Amino acid sequence: MIEERDAQVQRGNPLRSAVDKRLPRIAGPSGLVIFGVTGDLARKKLLPAVYDLASRGLLPAGFALVGFGRRDWSKQDFEHYVREAVEARSRTKFNTNVWNRLAEGIHFVSGAFDDDTAFDRLATVLAEMDRSQGTAGNWAYYLSVPPEFFANVVHQLDRCGMAHPGDGQWRRVIIEKPFGHDLASAKELNKVVNTVFPEHAVFRIDHYLGKETVQNIMALRFSNQMFEPIWNSHYIDHVQITMAEDIGLGGRAGYYDGIGAARDVIQNHLIQLLALVAMEEPTSFSPHQLRSEKLKVLRATSPTGPFEETTARGQYTAGLQGSVPVVGLRDEEGFDPDSETETFAACTLEINSRRWAGVPFYLRTGKRLGRRVTEIALVFKRPPYQPFYPDQTNLLTNNAVVIRIQPDEGVLMRFGSKVPGVGLEVRDVNMDFAYSEAFTEQSPEAYERLILDALLDESSLFPTNAEVERSWEILDPILNFWAQQGRPDEYEAGTWGPASANHMLEKDGRVWRRP
Ligand SMILES: NC(=O)c1ccc[n+]([C@@H]2O[C@H](COP(=O)([O-])OP(=O)(O)OC[C@H]3O[C@@H](n4cnc5c(N)ncnc54)[C@H](OP(=O)(O)O)[C@@H]3O)[C@@H](O)[C@H]2O)c1
Repeated sequence: MIEERDAQVQRGNPLRSAVDKRLPRIAGPSGLVIFGVTGDLARKKLLPAVYDLASRGLLPAGFALVGFGRRDWSKQDFEHYVREAVEARSRTKFNTNVWNRLAEGIHFVSGAFDDDTAFDRLATVLAEMDRSQGTAGNWAYYLSVPPEFFANVVHQLDRCGMAHPGDGQWRRVIIEKPFGHDLASAKELNKVVNTVFPEHAVFRIDHYLGKETVQNIMALRFSNQMFEPIWNSHYIDHVQITMAEDIGLGGRAGYYDGIGAARDVIQNHLIQLLALVAMEEPTSFSPHQLRSEKLKVLRATSPTGPFEETTARGQYTAGLQGSVPVVGLRDEEGFDPDSETETFAACTLEINSRRWAGVPFYLRTGKRLGRRVTEIALVFKRPPYQPFYPDQTNLLTNNAVVIRIQPDEGVLMRFGSKVPGVGLEVRDVNMDFAYSEAFTEQSPEAYERLILDALLDESSLFPTNAEVERSWEILDPILNFWAQQGRPDEYEAGTWGPASANHMLEKDGRVWRRP
């Protein structure tokens, strides 16, 4: 059964379809209901992504977009709101014909998540659209809502029969992170969701997996011959995975205070990047094969201790971002002045497999750091012998392959080269591939890719419940340790984190990259 499904999905697999422009994947008759449509994520990302898909001709003729929210809006009010979001943020140029076609299928249902009659009305609207719009009973429900409402909405969908497809129809649920705040709550959430929607109908969004550059990790590793033979502990000294942001947290207290950097970024984005970099080659990119390989490597992954030395945690204080003075976290609007929430988190993970034993994976993320960058750096061992005088190579560091996820998407290789002149001095040089220079096509936004994949039932780029739970199993011991430690260390805004983060690597004779 799984093999048959794999074979079907393989025909439209992520890597093949990303390059084969002659075979665009167009969603079949279907509609999308967005819960939390008045929120930040919907306005900035989801609605523009839906328009971009429409404008690329990737949505079916009778596509329906239904918003559910507490505002007392008419269809026209909602249409106006969607149009504003699209004009402000869509990637493709606004086109009146595309808009008019999309607007025909736009509807709004007003209500709160505990309002049974509102959900009954929603069920009536969807049934009506199945007849008038041709959505054929195929609906995806996007839960762009605070996590405490996931269970509520799922139960309401169940109660009104909206979670259960008729013959030849489908119903899917798309869930935004965070998937729990620890292993126990993630299990509880998965249980609630899976009692209503079978696992194959659950699409958990980790928008990092929708990024072209993240999918390029698979292309780089498995479509080339030159990398894979050296992608192991014989050649690689250590791996650094960094997601650094220069912005602060003003205005995001409601979501962030009490959550912190590790839960917000390491549990999902960074551990997913580790899985893609470290997994074995899947036999295909079908959902089953790809996700089994990721899960296998995650099962071999564990945190390295002792955590006093192998992890670091920090909170930004006032400083300069560029040349602009900024306040510390505790003075940000909405934050508890005694907040112990970390805005910087770093940890050391190890992978107990033949390929990776002895290679530390250092993960770090933070707000108000030196610059915005996400990258994976594979740092190689030194050659066993170098026939140079020491002063000829003292400016040479370890070779590295750096996969830049954002911005300046691309791949960089650092290696030694002779400095021109009569001597034999060797120094680091960079060979740099930039997406923006190599390709004329613009990358689609991650949310475009992921919404389309959910409509197409292509689940390769969505983490499974098992992956989510395993990620928490990896992180929970570190979070429990930190919970006993009181306040995080401090670091000045605009720097690269607390001194303890540097110590983490220095004790191993290594240093963090300064991207
Ligand atoms: N923003 C991002 O970039 C981002 C990134 C990754 C993940 N996420 C996740 O995505 C989800 C949405 O994020 P967001 O930034 O859009 O949040 P947000 O701006 O706070 O919006 C939350 C949405 O939920 C609605 N809502 C809240 N309580 C409700 C209730 N009782 N009944 C009906 N509607 C209710 C709000 O409606 P009202 O307008 O009526 O209050 C609003 O539409 C969250 O789970 C978040 O963790 C967001």
